[in-house]
Amino acid sequence: GLRPAFADLPKLKEKATYKVGFAQTESNNPWRLQQTKSMQDEAKKRGWQLVYTDAAGSAAKQVADVRSMIAQKVDVILLAPREERPLIPAVMEAKKAGIPLFLIDRGVDPSLAQAGKDYVAFIGSDFVQEGRQAAEVLTKAMNGQAKIIELVGTVGSSPANDRAKGFADYIKDYPGMQVVASQSGDFVRDKGRQVFETLYQAHPEATALYSHNDEMTMGAIAAMEAAGKVPGKDLIIASIDGTKDAAQAVMDGKILVVVECNPNFGPAAFEAIEKYGKGEHIPPHVVNKDRVLTKENIESYLPEAY
Ligand code: AHR
Repeated sequence: GLRPAFADLPKLKEKATYKVGFAQTESNNPWRLQQTKSMQDEAKKRGWQLVYTDAAGSAAKQVADVRSMIAQKVDVILLAPREERPLIPAVMEAKKAGIPLFLIDRGVDPSLAQAGKDYVAFIGSDFVQEGRQAAEVLTKAMNGQAKIIELVGTVGSSPANDRAKGFADYIKDYPGMQVVASQSGDFVRDKGRQVFETLYQAHPEATALYSHNDEMTMGAIAAMEAAGKVPGKDLIIASIDGTKDAAQAVMDGKILVVVECNPNFGPAAFEAIEKYGKGEHIPPHVVNKDRVLTKENIESYLPEAY
C-alpha cells in the first residue's frame, strides 16, 4: 500500500519537558530580536530547555550551529534558515540523526527538501501574499501609476524571493506600475539607506518605494529626508514587518502601508512540538495570519509593535 510521506520523519518521544534547539539567522534587527524573545519567553513559561544559537548572518555558521545541536542531542530543532539552498545539509543531517526539525519563518528550496518528509513542518507567514498585499494597497493609492524603487531582502532567502514574486505577480496587470530599479539591501537598515540613496540618484523620477522589510524602509526614509524629499508625499512607501519605528512612521504619514509579518513564533512552535510528541499529525504548512496596517488601524496595533 501507499506509505504516507510523514512515515519517513523522525519521531519524538512524549516527555514532560523537551530540550529545544533554536537556530537563529542573525540578530541585527528588531524583528529578529522579537522572534528570539518569543521563543525564550515560551520556553521559560513551559519550563523547557532552550539551546539558542545566532548565526550572525552566515549560512555556513548556521549549518555548523545545527550540527552542534545534533551533537548535543537536542530533542527537536527549530531552524530559521537564512537562505533557501545553503541550509539544505542542516535539514538533511538532522533527519539522518533522527531529530525532528521544524522550519521557522523562512523556507528552504522545495525541490531539495520537503515538509512532511524531510522536516516536520514549515511554520510562518505566506511571503508571496505579503508581497501581493503591499502591491495592492500601493496600486490603489497611486491609481495604478507609479515608478517604483524596490529594496530586496537577503539574496537567496525565501522572504526576498517570495515578496518579490508576490509584488510582481500583482502589478503585472497594471502597466502603469513599473519597477524602475531593484536591488538587495540585505534586510539591514544602513544597507537600505545606502542602496536607496544610490538607486534614487540614478532614478530621480521614482514616485514610490517597495521595501521587503521595515529596517531597510527606515534607512530609505533617512536617505529621502537627507535628500530634502518628503516620504509619504514625494515618494509613497509600502513596507513589511510591523516594527515600532515603522508603525510610528505610518502614524506620521511617512509610510502608506506595512504588511504585518508576525515574529511571535514561540507559542505556535512549542505547541507544534507538544502535539508532535503526542503523535498527532502536524500539517506540513502552518501559516500565520498577517494584518495589513495603514493609517486606519495603526493606532490599535502600536501597543504590540516591537
Ligand atoms: O524572514 C522574515 C524576515 O526576516 C523579516 O521580514 C525581516 O525583518 C527578517 O530579517
